[in-house]
Amino acid sequence: MLRLCRYLKYLVPKGCKKGRTVLRVVLAYSGGLDTSTILVLLKEKYNAEIITVTVDVGQKEDLEDVEERAYKLGASKHYTIDAKHEFVEKFVLPSIQLNGLYEEKYPLGTALARPLIAEKVAEIAKREGADAVAHGCTSKGNDQVRFELTLKALLPDDIKIIAPIRLYKFTRRQALEFLRSRGYDVPSTHKKYSIDENLWTRSIEGGELDDPAVEPPEEVFEWTVPPHKAPDNPLYLELEFRNGVPVAINGEKMDLFKIVGLLNEIVGSHGFGRIDHIENRVIGLKSREVYEAPAALTLIEAHKDLEKLVYTPHEYRFKRLIDNLWSDLVYNGLWIEPLREHLQKVAAEMNRFVEGVVKLKVYKGSLTIVGRYSDISGYHKELIDYNTGWYPSDEEARGFITLYGLHSLTAYKLRKRV
Ligand code: ARG
Repeated sequence: MLRLCRYLKYLVPKGCKKGRTVLRVVLAYSGGLDTSTILVLLKEKYNAEIITVTVDVGQKEDLEDVEERAYKLGASKHYTIDAKHEFVEKFVLPSIQLNGLYEEKYPLGTALARPLIAEKVAEIAKREGADAVAHGCTSKGNDQVRFELTLKALLPDDIKIIAPIRLYKFTRRQALEFLRSRGYDVPSTHKKYSIDENLWTRSIEGGELDDPAVEPPEEVFEWTVPPHKAPDNPLYLELEFRNGVPVAINGEKMDLFKIVGLLNEIVGSHGFGRIDHIENRVIGLKSREVYEAPAALTLIEAHKDLEKLVYTPHEYRFKRLIDNLWSDLVYNGLWIEPLREHLQKVAAEMNRFVEGVVKLKVYKGSLTIVGRYSDISGYHKELIDYNTGWYPSDEEARGFITLYGLHSLTAYKLRKRV
């Protein structure tokens, strides 16, 4: 414990601001095991005044309960900030336009929410004249990078950033014991697994999931039904896009926030949206990750399909490149990187032409695209039809093949001799 006190003194060398005698710390508080431990720890051992901040990014948690827990554990003040709509507009929307999937699988939920949470926490820290900002990340994950880079960008130098769990090397077991020994507890779901949730993705880590050879137990899933228990009738959906933004489901116009919520529910109830993959973390570890993201996977799949219909092959290939670049920057905690914004501008420009309707079929855990339409489609039935219409002449085809293959054919013939 001494270490932590020394660390805090080192971080806040001139003592507290404005002649206060106690340190004022703003804590990014989720209500989970790690941040609850930090709250008790900082208060107890350093007599710090803790202001907790919980940012609502659509986690399906009772945030009044979280507030109550914060006060029970000793917070002097608590903020719950509703950032759901901001999350959708500034983070989810570009993520659809850039088909944000890390390593082709993970819809980036946690990675997208961290910079927004950090921004809100930094605002409160400045408003409250805090000496330090604390977060609950360990030294093994990506989130420490995401939080701290955004905080460093937004906080003045005299507000320090502390990561007590990382500093003190608290394991989850130790954190639980620490809280119990002080007569506190956390909800049972937070004991077994580490869960992070927002309206775009639910992430479950830890427990038996740490063995990548073992199938995830059914108890880890909350947003999706087991595919074999899904309804026997397929679900058909028509998603309409304007400017690369989903605007309607089955002809009914609604805003993106509503579309995401609705899709999570209805597509999840048909068993689609589960992800289980091996992920390369930014800090050099491989981890086994389990997610639920029915709306995210549905919207990205449909959006990509429509892009294929309207883009030229050159646009399509370029877009895949920038999609991956953008996803990597976001995953790696570089929301502050200028290139991230440049890519979003390019993507928004290209998305002006992503217009039309995609028809999907969701059936017992699988999702298939079964139709698509756009007024500006590059597909023309009168050209492709094998029975009617236009055919390139034999002469045209021969000429094309000769010139098209000339480089390769020449090299092939020359090298065959060697
Ligand atoms: N692997 C994901 C990411 O790095 C999720 C991390 C947080 N998940 C959690 N269950 N604590 O973005």
